[in-house]
Formats: sequence, C-alpha cells, structure tokens
Amino acid sequence: MTMRSTSERYGTVALALHWTSAALILALIPLGFAMQSAPDAARLGLYRVHVGIGILVGLLTLARLLWWLALDRRPVPSVSHTLLQRRLAKAVHAGFYGVVLILAVSGIGMMAASPLGEALASGKLALMPADLMNLPPRLAHGAMARLLMALLVLHVAGALYHHWVGRDGTLGRMAVRLR
Ligand code: HEM
Ligand code: HEM
Repeated sequence: MTMRSTSERYGTVALALHWTSAALILALIPLGFAMQSAPDAARLGLYRVHVGIGILVGLLTLARLLWWLALDRRPVPSVSHTLLQRRLAKAVHAGFYGVVLILAVSGIGMMAASPLGEALASGKLALMPADLMNLPPRLAHGAMARLLMALLVLHVAGALYHHWVGRDGTLGRMAVRLR
C-alpha cells in the first residue's frame, strides 16, 4: 500500500488520519457528556483528558486538511454512486472538517473565557466553573457536538449501505489492509 492515495483507494496516511481521528472522536463524544456529572474525584481528570484529546483531534484535522490540499488526491468516486450520493458524501465530509474545527476552537474559547483552564492546570476543583452555559463558545460547542453526531449517523449509514446493499467496495477503499 502506498503513502498517497491511488485513484481506487485511500493511501496509508489518509487511512491513519481517518481512523485515528474517528476513534478519538468516538471517545470524545460520550466523554464530553459524561464528564459533566462525574463525581468530584474524577471530574478534573476527565476534563483534562477531554481537553487534551480534543486539541489533538483539532491538530490532526488541520494536518489532514494540509495533507489533502498539498500532497494527496482523493480516489475517484465509484461509478456506481449516483450524483446525489456523491454530493451528499462530499457535503458530509466537508461538514466534518468544519464542525470538528469549530468544536476545537469553541473548546479553547470556553477555557479562555472562564477559570476552567486555571482549574485544570492547578488541579483545584474549587476553581471549576459551576456552569459554562452562559458562554457563547459553550453554546456553539453543544450545538456542534449534536451536528457532528447527526453527520456521523449519515456517514456510517452511507458506508454500511454501500457495503451491504450497493456492494460497490466503498468501505474497502477506506479499509486497513495488513499486506
Ligand atoms: C474536537 C473534538 C471535540 C468533540 C467531538 C467534543 C465533544 C464534546 C461533547 C459531546 C460535549 C458535551 C456537550 C453538551 O453537553 O452539550 C463536550 C463538552 C465539553 N467540551 Fe468538548 N469536544 C471536542 C473538543 C474540545 C476541546 C478542544 C475542548 C477544550 C479545549 C473541549 C472542552 C469541552 C468542555 C469544557 C466541555 C464541557 C462543558 C461544560 O462543562 O458545560 N472540547 N465536548
Ligand atoms: C466509525 C465509523 C466510520 C466509518 C465506517 C467510516 C467510513 C468511511 C469510508 C468508507 C470512507 C470513504 C468514503 C468514500 O471514499 O466515498 C470515509 C471517508 C471519510 N470519513 Fe469516515 N468513517 C467513520 C468515521 C468517521 C468519523 C468519526 C469522521 C469524522 C471526522 C469521518 C470523516 C471522514 C471524512 C472527512 C472522509 C473523506 C476522506 C477524508 O477526508 O479523509 N469518518 N469514511
């Protein structure tokens, strides 16, 4: 398998970026909801993990954008996909980039606009803000998290539809091959 993508399948760099980001995002979503009502003993630690992984996903997304813009080209869409399916897939893929970047920026925005960063850095639970809901970046973060989940449902449904119903090799293009 080559580092760059071919006209038929994604290359190793695109695969690594896609599946690492996907796994981290799938962990961040339940963590984001659960950490808010976690017991005091665990809350700071869970927020730290969420913030660390969230920033990492933001950086991976920037790296991914640069990779596609400067160094690689996506495989050509399967001829069996209708024009509507291609447009929908393109919109969902572009939506992922936008939504994930807004999540990362709004996450950093919450830290900048409240004592949260200080609480996480010092480990002082007393500094944790009781409620961030009045902050605009918090509202954006919650809205984008929900939009991300909707995109994810569409994306996975599309991938499984092409795999099981269309049987057109779409999932195989993004599958990791060990040799
Ligand atoms: C980039 C991927 C990210 C995803 C998918 C994500 C996902 C989520 C989700 C699902 C929630 C719960 C939303 C709700 O209850 O309405 C949440 C909350 C939160 N996220 Fe993220 N997040 C990401 C990045 C970040 C980053 C980079 C930061 C900080 C630098 C951050 C800080 C927070 C904080 C502080 C909360 C809790 C707010 C509260 O206590 O009310 N997130 N996140
Ligand atoms: C967990 C289940 C997932 C499955 C089964 C899956 C499957 C796939 C498949 C089969 C493709 C290739 C589509 C084609 O060539 O037409 C693809 C591309 C893509 N997927 Fe996923 N995916 C998953 C999760 C995610 C997540 C969480 C994201 C969020 C960032 C994501 C973002 C993308 C993007 C942006 C592309 C276009 C190629 C690229 O820019 O890297 N996927 N996915």
